[in-house]
Amino acid sequence: MNNVYIETYGCQMNQADSGIVGKVLEDNGYKLVSSQDDADVILINTCAVRDNAEKRIHNRVHDLQALKKKNPLLKIGIIGCMAERLQDSLIKEDKVNIVCGPDSYRKIHELINQSTAIDVELSKDETYEDIIPAQLNSDGISAFISIMRGCENFCTYCVVPYTRGKERSRSPQSIIQEAKQLFDDGYRDITLLGQNVNSYIYTEDGKEVRFAELLVRVARINPSLRVRFATSHPKDLSEELVNAIASMPNICKYIHLPVQSGSNIMLKKMNRKYTVEEYLAKIDLIRKKIPDCAISTDVIAGFCGETEEDHAMTLDIFRKVRYDSAFMFKYSDRPGTVAHKRFVDDIEETEKVRRLQEIIDLQRELSLQSNQKDIGKTFEVLVEGESKRDSSKLFGRTSQNKVVIFDKGDNKKGDYIDVIIENCTSATLFGKKIN
Ligand code: SAH
Ligand code: SF4
Ligand code: F3S
Repeated sequence: MNNVYIETYGCQMNQADSGIVGKVLEDNGYKLVSSQDDADVILINTCAVRDNAEKRIHNRVHDLQALKKKNPLLKIGIIGCMAERLQDSLIKEDKVNIVCGPDSYRKIHELINQSTAIDVELSKDETYEDIIPAQLNSDGISAFISIMRGCENFCTYCVVPYTRGKERSRSPQSIIQEAKQLFDDGYRDITLLGQNVNSYIYTEDGKEVRFAELLVRVARINPSLRVRFATSHPKDLSEELVNAIASMPNICKYIHLPVQSGSNIMLKKMNRKYTVEEYLAKIDLIRKKIPDCAISTDVIAGFCGETEEDHAMTLDIFRKVRYDSAFMFKYSDRPGTVAHKRFVDDIEETEKVRRLQEIIDLQRELSLQSNQKDIGKTFEVLVEGESKRDSSKLFGRTSQNKVVIFDKGDNKKGDYIDVIIENCTSATLFGKKIN
């Protein structure tokens, strides 16, 4: 009765959290299994950021009820952001057994022991820093480390501050210990995670440690450990951080800097606390100090009251920055947020879809141009595994976070290989190993 299957949706932070849940369960006599058919308990780590993310989970739980008919003792649990947002309605309406919010994972085994149980208490100080997470579905090369939890930025469209609670940072010493352990276990690419890593702050021996210093400390563990981070809020991206990235070759030359909109009116309404001009100044700073840095973004199409002109400004900022890649969404009204309470979700669905598609089409062109510029250049690629389409090829990533495919030869996962780029699509680079 002790087999647990954990399924993860949502952001990278949820992947890291599933590792924490897995570790707590292992320490309490449970076994993690890799198939739902072997499970006595199925836990679904969920995301509440957009309505379609939630719909998918409701459908998944509905489908799992069929499995429960075959195995009446099977327990289903919802953990993560939807657990926090929907609380006991998940027990009443979705008929799940366990509801566990993001700050209650230490008690997950106690909740599983009961026939139905809920714990969605948020905490001011829980960081799970003493728990070294289990590595679930890991490739053995890349791993995530949560360096902080929560968010207090209250962007008006966003549910995260309500599902994740207060912002809190974890001690540098515990982060470095975890990173060292991962390196010793063979991991070579570590991403430091937080909703806004630029506001990382921890007082150590009476001295404040901020993100730039933490990043450098992790990078110093070993030159062959690549260090990445996500996400940077543009309002807090400092020159000190840009200098830190430039200063060490193993800090990846890749910054994810979500813009959300290219219109100052929308940015203000979104409570993003920067203007287009300030954002572009940060981009200039990055380009000046780290000429080979890749930049990606998040954007929302069709936020409340967005005019055709606002939308055109979003396309415009994409053309100005020339993003290497982007995560693009249409606005989804979230109950509980400021936007839900104060603004009208007034852009028609068909119009949202059209605007989003225009952004996607533009970005595809920009990604292609960015990749074409790499043809003829040589990059150091960290091999992450065999190409899924062709087992005679390997795939890996550049420091700039671009995926490269090339002939396997006698190379393997974890190797650093110099690859010259010969061809590309908008999503992938294709190259050849050089000696
Ligand atoms: N902390 C990160 C983002 C976390 S959520 C940051 O500040 O950038 C990831 C992305 O989801 C956001 O950047 C935003 O683009 C998108 N998003 C958040 N709420 C949304 C909503 N209500 N509708 C559509 N997209 C949303
Ligand atoms: Fe959401 Fe804004 Fe916090 Fe990001 S910074 S998680 S978009 S509230
Ligand atoms: Fe989703 Fe929660 Fe992450 S809402 S984006 S899983 S913090």
